[in-house]
Amino acid sequence: MKDHVEEIKHKLSVVDVVGGYVKLERAGKNMRARCPFHNEKTPSFYVSPERGSFVCFGCGAKGDMFTFVERIEGVDFFGALKTLAERAGVELTPTRGDKDKNERSREFEILEDATIFFENELKKNELAQAYVASRGIAPSTVQIMRMGYAPAEWRSLRTYLKARGWSDGEMEKTGLIKRTDKQTSDPFYDVFRDRVVFPIADASGRVVAFSGRIVVDDPKAPKYLNSPETDLYRKSRILYGLDKAKQRIREMDYAILVEGQMDLVMSHQAGLRNTVASSGTALSDEEIRDGEYTGLGLITRLTKNIIIAFDSDAAGTKAALRAAKIAMSLGMDVKVAFARGGKDPAEIIQTEPKAWAQILKEAQPVVEFATERLLEKKLAHKDLHRGIRDEVLPLVATNESALDRSRMLNVVSTMTGVKVSDLEQDIMNITEDRGHVTPSNRIIGMPVENMSREERLERMLFGILYGQNKLNMNGENDIQEVLGAGRLLHYNSLPDIDKSMLATHVETLYGEDGPQLKDKIDMVLNLTLERTKRKRDEIGREMRTAIGSPRGDALLKEFESLSKEMSDITNKLSSRQ
Ligand code: GTP
Ligand code: MN
Repeated sequence: MKDHVEEIKHKLSVVDVVGGYVKLERAGKNMRARCPFHNEKTPSFYVSPERGSFVCFGCGAKGDMFTFVERIEGVDFFGALKTLAERAGVELTPTRGDKDKNERSREFEILEDATIFFENELKKNELAQAYVASRGIAPSTVQIMRMGYAPAEWRSLRTYLKARGWSDGEMEKTGLIKRTDKQTSDPFYDVFRDRVVFPIADASGRVVAFSGRIVVDDPKAPKYLNSPETDLYRKSRILYGLDKAKQRIREMDYAILVEGQMDLVMSHQAGLRNTVASSGTALSDEEIRDGEYTGLGLITRLTKNIIIAFDSDAAGTKAALRAAKIAMSLGMDVKVAFARGGKDPAEIIQTEPKAWAQILKEAQPVVEFATERLLEKKLAHKDLHRGIRDEVLPLVATNESALDRSRMLNVVSTMTGVKVSDLEQDIMNITEDRGHVTPSNRIIGMPVENMSREERLERMLFGILYGQNKLNMNGENDIQEVLGAGRLLHYNSLPDIDKSMLATHVETLYGEDGPQLKDKIDMVLNLTLERTKRKRDEIGREMRTAIGSPRGDALLKEFESLSKEMSDITNKLSSRQ
């Protein structure tokens, strides 16, 4: 394997590999681009042909051509090896059947075996075939999507896999069989029974899970059944169809996101091969925070443009707005396609493929879409305003560009008659709410642009300390003090790689010796200012509900004293210029 890696590196250049995904421009002896791993306007992503490596000073991504392919394709090392070996024309020695083959590739292999089993079973079962045909799915699509059928028996897959030498443990670990608690001679049974099966693959096309649709609707059984989460199948990180869509998404420079497996299959059949499906995975707030690591995060590596085309019922609209928010927070340009009349993409494509293309063409920018849905409710002005504040403005607020935000506010104002100045006031409150210091896991991995100024300053100051090994020494007392024991401890407990990234960032900005004393003092003062401002604004918000009461008076006092502190710091800062 090591030989393969060397051979590939010898045959391919990092510039060619990276250049296949992003547009590189020359910068001295290096190449430069806008980083594909985070959203930025000015390039801070460098490729060094000499060292065979890349590094981004904006988000800290770095590595060699293998790391690059892993990240951009959303695959693991073996996936990257496969891709690059193909490009380099290097044949990987087959490892099939080897005893010492690692566990992971055995897991892929058993899932591949299961896929083949399901495919063959569909060929044998006329009823299942008739069902598939009744949904408008052509035989060629069945083949391309590798659709299959799980027989209506308790152990058909298990028997098949057992005969091929797989153990119950391996089948259970990959989510193919389950164990019952009941006392029986044989506790294991197939997870998928009497269902049409859609294999779900990772970005490099290896099957990691299945989704099975019931053939005869049964109110007692779920319509769709998915594999349980396994090592290979992290639901929030897999988008159904991405392996088949990624090339096309890159070419077309936009992606279409649908909800359902059927929607995806029909979209691809209709030639819209830049479509991926969220498979009904509810995107939670957790995932909004970890956006970069979700399936949507994978798409941002391919394009910044997305059309969300979910069901047009209330649940679909809600889910679409949720997905939109995540996509926007990742810096994407989001449109929403809306099929009136409660039909979903699969149904529309089945009856009228042209109508679907038209609906996509008419996709609206998400803010317009959300506003229009509110207007349809015919609310009184006050309720409308509240609806905008709660449902539309949070979307606007996720946008990084002030210009874009103000453009959006104008649109909302024109559509609703709510004054722009009121909207601006509302949105400021939202933005302020986001200014809090965040939980530890947000520090690394979040686009710097989305970070509060407070957090950015903290990172910078910590980077200074860390880069100069001054964590426990004197001489940087002010910095240590302003960070405080808690924040120091927090940053110190980050993985080394993250800490050195913070230090490298300082170096790229200020050189090896770090910033001068004056700059450091400015940063300390600015951090204090940000914190004071945050505290004051919190109190300001609280005050509004307590005006006139004794508590309100006390809050006002505090508000004033914090304001005074702020102006003291501001004065100090400006007198130092
Ligand atoms: P069809 O009836 O086959 O056209 O499916 P659909 O896509 O119209 O289903 P629906 O709109 O009801 O749900 C949207 C998506 O949610 C589906 O495509 C599935 O991914 C998922 N889903 C629906 N029902 C279930 C269920 O019972 N269990 C699970 N886990 N997911 C479901
Ligand atoms: Mn449907």
